[in-house]
Amino acid sequence: MGFDDTFNTESLLPDVISFRDRFPIFHNKIHLASNAMGAVSDATEEAYRSYLDDRIHYGASWEAALSKQEELRKSFADFINAKPSEIAICYSATQGLGVLSTSINWLNRRKIIFDDYNFPSVAQLWHAQKLRGAEVVRISPDSEGIIRPEYVANALDKDVGLISVSHVCYKNGHRLDLEGLGKRVRHADALYLVDDYQGCGTRKIDVNALGIDIYVGGAVKFLLGSAGIGFLFVKEDLLETLHPTLTGWFGQKASYEMEIEAHEEAADASRFQIGTPSVPAIYESLAGLNLINSVGINNVEKWISYITSLVIHRLIEEGFVLATPLDPQSRAAQVAIKSIDGVKVVSELQKRGIITTTRDNNIRTAWHFYNTPEDVDALISALQDLRDLMLFDH
Ligand SMILES: Cc1ncc(COP(=O)(O)O)c(C=O)c1O
Repeated sequence: MGFDDTFNTESLLPDVISFRDRFPIFHNKIHLASNAMGAVSDATEEAYRSYLDDRIHYGASWEAALSKQEELRKSFADFINAKPSEIAICYSATQGLGVLSTSINWLNRRKIIFDDYNFPSVAQLWHAQKLRGAEVVRISPDSEGIIRPEYVANALDKDVGLISVSHVCYKNGHRLDLEGLGKRVRHADALYLVDDYQGCGTRKIDVNALGIDIYVGGAVKFLLGSAGIGFLFVKEDLLETLHPTLTGWFGQKASYEMEIEAHEEAADASRFQIGTPSVPAIYESLAGLNLINSVGINNVEKWISYITSLVIHRLIEEGFVLATPLDPQSRAAQVAIKSIDGVKVVSELQKRGIITTTRDNNIRTAWHFYNTPEDVDALISALQDLRDLMLFDH
């Protein structure tokens, strides 16, 4: 594999090191699990403190809480090149999609196409729609594990109501070609939904340029925020046709009118919200997003591209087998390494102070703007110790 060592790491390394300094876990551990939960920063700690301070100071202020929610909505909208009115702040990605699902009438267009990269929670939600008249069509990868845009496009017909894809596969780090797929499906009559929970915060995303109708993610992973926040983007033009039946006061046009005679949904995407927001998670998630913005998503993307190429290069030199594709176009921030006992390897790595996760016996390592070449050395050396538990080509 061609490892591009011409990349000028020196220009970004000082920023990476000062960024890393803000995450206390690195004092004694190596965090390679941002695909599960991002590391906690000093900014997150301060944000949580300020949430408590606001509660202590104001006693009971919806204004303070909701103004933070609006800030988060705006900040996330800017992050994906959407309008704040196209964003709903949910409790989790699945919950946002669950509310959305109540607004889709499967009787008109009954088919839901989804790919094998999907996170189970999303796939489960689509299977549940069969109770409401939907039919699911699964798109599987080729023998190299790649889901090609044409596989999805070829499954389109007049009965397809929803195309639901996952940008980056949670278990092996495969990345779908969203540019290629967007070109093929953007004129279809079906809704085009991208779950980007495994990509959001690792690279620049422009939902408009990619022709995405619905986009979902959350804050606790690469966005360095908190559990309790899912982001749902619904394109403005679609609001005319999407009316959720799972609702609550924070999904209404006038939350504070305390209406009990009628249901009047919000005019914008906040109609996909339901009850009291996860207020502490909003404070923390805003801090995470601000932190990413402080270094710039383009720099984050460049660094992740460099550090993942470096780790892949070193792993291959050592003969380890990857579950993640080598082609930089087909991967993101996760590098998954095949083992014969994933649970054991993760636990052994943890004893050595290296935090990873596993699925399907793949050791999932995730790389962010806080991971350095020293982390690569530490991982390689720990895996050398654990060779008996790993798979090899030869
Ligand atoms: C790609 C992807 N989609 C969806 C989810 C589920 O998110 P939530 O638990 O916020 O519903 C996850 C969780 O890890 C995920 O990785």
